[in-house]
Amino acid sequence: MSVTMPEVMQVLNRHLPQGFSPKVAMILGSGLSSIAEQMTGSVSIPYNAIPGLHGGTVAGHASLMAAGHLANVPVICMRGRLHMYEGTSIESLRVFIRQLKHLGCQTLIVTGAVGSLVPEAGPGELMMINDHINFQPFNPLVGPNDESEGPRFVGMEDAYDPGLQEIMQGAANRLGYTLHRGVYLSTMGPTFETPAEIRAFKRWGADVVGMSVVPEVILARHCGLRVVCVAAITNAAAGMSHERITHDGTLQYGELAARKLTKLIPEFVKDLNDAMV
Ligand code: HPA
Repeated sequence: MSVTMPEVMQVLNRHLPQGFSPKVAMILGSGLSSIAEQMTGSVSIPYNAIPGLHGGTVAGHASLMAAGHLANVPVICMRGRLHMYEGTSIESLRVFIRQLKHLGCQTLIVTGAVGSLVPEAGPGELMMINDHINFQPFNPLVGPNDESEGPRFVGMEDAYDPGLQEIMQGAANRLGYTLHRGVYLSTMGPTFETPAEIRAFKRWGADVVGMSVVPEVILARHCGLRVVCVAAITNAAAGMSHERITHDGTLQYGELAARKLTKLIPEFVKDLNDAMV
């Protein structure tokens, strides 16, 4: 049975502090959940307490919605995400994103672990995503369109908001961090790619590859959220280095990148908030 957004909001409002009015939400992927530990006055809601949300089973994922303040700005942190390779339903993914819009958020910061196809952008470094290639075998908007959420056809030209990228770049410059820029190609997973796939993706114009981000960004754009995405490079993509790709390895390098993101994201949130008032 499918759940309605008013039902979801009823549950969320029971848990959230009264009058809490977030404008920014973020999705924290594998090994990146520690950003939420900097929040003050936060309350957490387990995903399994939210109607329509199931999943969040990968090691390194916390599976909690945290509502509180980051850099004195009210935010929602989604600690852990739903992956299609877990068997997550599209319905769950829709709730996952749309609830953020219904809570009043206007901006979505997406983070995630990726493998790099660019030799200059190595493990532990950050890449700001400026476009994507959807190589997952579906689109989360397939099926009857809910006009109250967004339009049937959605332009994806500015999916990664140029204005938000500029603010993110400013924050990175201030911290002295290199932000690579490039195109994210999403696979369904859960297998990592073969070297032949990576060679093909490189010819298509991919700079990094991962198993998430794209369905979330499609849903976010559909309901009018502005998106900025910074990926944590956890490994060189298959066939691009002698090291084997393992989930443990990705978590290890994810930690290095997470330390930078832990500083970068609050700076961005502060600058965005200043730019909005
Ligand atoms: N491929 C796909 N997803 C990933 C990778 C990768 O190499 N690294 C981290 N997530």
